Amino acid sequence: MAQRTPDASETGAGTATAFPAFAHRHMLGIAGLNPVEIDALLNRAEAMIPISRQRRTLPNLAGKTQINLFFENSTRTQASFEIAGKRLGATVMNMAMRTSSVAKGETLVDTAATLNAMQPDVIVVRHGSSGAVSLLSQKVECAVINAGDGTHEHPTQALLDALTIRRHLGRLNGMTVAICGDIANSRVARSNLVLLRTMLARTRVIAPRTLLPPGIGDMVDEVYTDMREGLEGVDVIMMLRLQHERSAGKLIASPREYFRFYGLDAEKLRYANPNALVMHPGPMNRGVEIDPAIADGPQSVITEQVEMGVAVRMAVLDALLSKTDAADA
Ligand code: NCD
Repeated sequence: MAQRTPDASETGAGTATAFPAFAHRHMLGIAGLNPVEIDALLNRAEAMIPISRQRRTLPNLAGKTQINLFFENSTRTQASFEIAGKRLGATVMNMAMRTSSVAKGETLVDTAATLNAMQPDVIVVRHGSSGAVSLLSQKVECAVINAGDGTHEHPTQALLDALTIRRHLGRLNGMTVAICGDIANSRVARSNLVLLRTMLARTRVIAPRTLLPPGIGDMVDEVYTDMREGLEGVDVIMMLRLQHERSAGKLIASPREYFRFYGLDAEKLRYANPNALVMHPGPMNRGVEIDPAIADGPQSVITEQVEMGVAVRMAVLDALLSKTDAADA
């Protein structure tokens, strides 16, 4: 496995230890970040890996308050942001919005005003509606991080995927990446496509026509509806979960048939490059999107993605909060 990569020198972004100031007040999406900014975030995340592995705590966010505001179910992303904040010394508060005032009819804007009055330093938001996190960011004075909004963006997922790829393959530039499955409903696909194209990777999506969103041709280099054709010669395979909560089930004939044509199994995997990385953001529907033997097999980096998630979230929190003056972008 490729260990540390020379990263910063590839783009001239400086050394891996000197991190340029992050010029944005919020992290709402990958769209709007340039290659130097993405590279610098990945370098910063790289530096967080040993801290996280040694279970050490940095003082960077000491005295700061982080609120995790999750309007949608999440296990790994919420836990990952919580651990990341704590490893940087922040006080972290989790708000489970199903049991909160929202259930009593409070609007998103009311919730934002209430939380803002408590003077947090950062709010990490997951919401079922695309654009809700951006709206909330306009109503509060602190930094806001998008932890997934509807089918729009999930920037820290794309960054952790990029970090995982970079550590294994050494770079993103020139790599061929296939994103497979429920593209239409996937914020993970959208953020990844923006990031990968910004970093000059070659992008493909593979899905049944019913799971391809309108306008996909403008977001990706190549579109396939056949798994075997689409996987031919790829360096990375990103499988996606069928978003049943967004009615994906109605767009496929049956889970069995979906697995037969679009599930990643040993036979289809053979079309990719011999050491192609197998990724999945989780949670997985084993036996629907991916054969359990492949999910747990030698090419799978799925558990490592989870580990990189903590490092990337530490880096994003650090980039937004460990600076002296807030930028206004
Ligand atoms: C992803 C999400 O919530 O968008 N999962 C995650 O962040 N752990 C992907 C998914 O839910 O399918």
